[in-house]
Amino acid sequence: MKQMINIALPKGRLGDKVYDIFEKIGFECPSIKEANRKLIFENEKKGVRYFWVKPSDVARYVERGAADIGVAGKDIILEYEPDIYELIDLGIGKCRLAVAAPKGFHDDPQQTLKVATKFSNISQKYFSSLGREIDIIHLNGSIEIAPILGLSDVILDIVETGTTLKENNLEVIETVAPVSARLIANKASFKFKNTQIENIIEGMNSFLEAEAKTKPEAKK
Ligand code: PRP
Repeated sequence: MKQMINIALPKGRLGDKVYDIFEKIGFECPSIKEANRKLIFENEKKGVRYFWVKPSDVARYVERGAADIGVAGKDIILEYEPDIYELIDLGIGKCRLAVAAPKGFHDDPQQTLKVATKFSNISQKYFSSLGREIDIIHLNGSIEIAPILGLSDVILDIVETGTTLKENNLEVIETVAPVSARLIANKASFKFKNTQIENIIEGMNSFLEAEAKTKPEAKK
């Protein structure tokens, strides 16, 4: 019997895009498109089993070997520093990690900077690299509200279109890191299921090359 590859996909819009890529490169699993609340889908013939998990949990499933491979944002990889292989930058789910503050904010380096964020580890590392003392206020969402209510001076968060910042009178003061979706693998699985994982990598790389050729900037 074929050895199954377990794939953790991030639930949501990014995950749908990622699944479409898997489908296009020959690892389809039609039952996944049926509207229901199931979280595990498999296509035995193709040797694939997909799980929908919370985007911020993908790296955990992969690190612990519950999934052999998965797709996680670079933000999550930087935050949790999982012991995994980062295989491919899929070039989707693009955004950036940035520090933002209310318009007109002036930083006083003599004061401890209060930072509201979901990304405590990234914040710690980033500000310590600048030699800046900070107080982290760890939140789980709606981070933009923190400086408005005086809970923090700044935020460190994901900025995609910039609309959330704009609508809350905040602006980026520094970009910390670019973010995009990455194909990641469990280290043991990469060794023991190497042929199947290499097939997926090859398929993804050909898909990405073909995609790049259709983009106008590639024709210049
Ligand atoms: C993310 C992020 C920002 C927003 C940025 O929030 O935390 O709030 O998207 O997107 P924009 O620049 O396009 O406006 P998410 O939707 O994940 O919700 P959250 O408040 O739970 O973090």
